[in-house]
Amino acid sequence: MRIAVTGGTGTLGRHVVDELRSRGHEVRVLSRKSPDHPVDLTTGEGLEAALTGCAVVVDATNSNKNAAAVLVEGSRRLLAAEAAAGVAHHVCVSIVGCDRVPLSYFRVKAEQEGVVADGPVPWTTVRITQFHELVAATLAPAGRWRLLPVPRARLRTVAVADAARAVADVAEGAPRQGRVEVAGPEVADARQLATTWKRITGHRALLLPMPLPGRLGRALREGVLAAERPDVQGVTPFGAWLAGRP
Ligand SMILES: NC(=O)c1ccc[n+]([C@@H]2O[C@H](COP(=O)([O-])OP(=O)(O)OC[C@H]3O[C@@H](n4cnc5c(N)ncnc54)[C@H](OP(=O)(O)O)[C@@H]3O)[C@@H](O)[C@H]2O)c1
Repeated sequence: MRIAVTGGTGTLGRHVVDELRSRGHEVRVLSRKSPDHPVDLTTGEGLEAALTGCAVVVDATNSNKNAAAVLVEGSRRLLAAEAAAGVAHHVCVSIVGCDRVPLSYFRVKAEQEGVVADGPVPWTTVRITQFHELVAATLAPAGRWRLLPVPRARLRTVAVADAARAVADVAEGAPRQGRVEVAGPEVADARQLATTWKRITGHRALLLPMPLPGRLGRALREGVLAAERPDVQGVTPFGAWLAGRP
């Protein structure tokens, strides 16, 4: 199949591209800096040519600074271009619990899901928990500090490579007009993850409880980000992933 991966140069997108190629698909990498298929979802530039002949689009685009323009308005543009190109399946990558976290980025993700569900192209939304890679990248600057403030948050992080396999499985299947949840093998509090990170990386920063008041703190403590019964479970625990990094 010819499959386009928007955000195919990103953390998840790169793994999805490699996974789909290893399964024999013809994969197009779409992003602003993609050498072969440059596209900009904030303008729609490049989409028509990039989507020609594509049966499936996996949307692994992301933006923190410009989230609504890229993920919500960008999805509208992308879906309209897909409909014009005859794409048969749109796979939206989203986040477990995004509709229950009172933060603007998560609200944008929930809105993006709505645009996809109401859009003109048959769809599946793959909700994924936080990546191990995100946890490691968030904790890494602590090497420069002596104190590491960590809130209480029930998580179920997953290796990007495991998540990418699940996304590729969905891309190969029929549109579900619904959601698939993907999570890691273990539920752990953020402080447990930080302790594992310290042990494996040898960092000595002192963990400091960081109170998160209000609805946000309650939601994270209650575990809205951790899928209780995921449809697909990754196989790589955080500690093993961290220890195996090059
Ligand atoms: N990070 C996590 O822990 C996590 C967990 C669960 C789900 N997710 C979801 O997974 C998806 C991918 O996240 P990620 O962390 O892999 O993203 P990422 O590493 O930040 O990559 C973002 C991608 O989007 C492209 N992009 C950004 N703006 C664009 C624009 N205007 N037009 C076209 N392409 C654009 C970037 O390429 P260019 O710069 O070349 O344009 C890049 O390929 C997102 O939907 C995110 O919500 C993330």
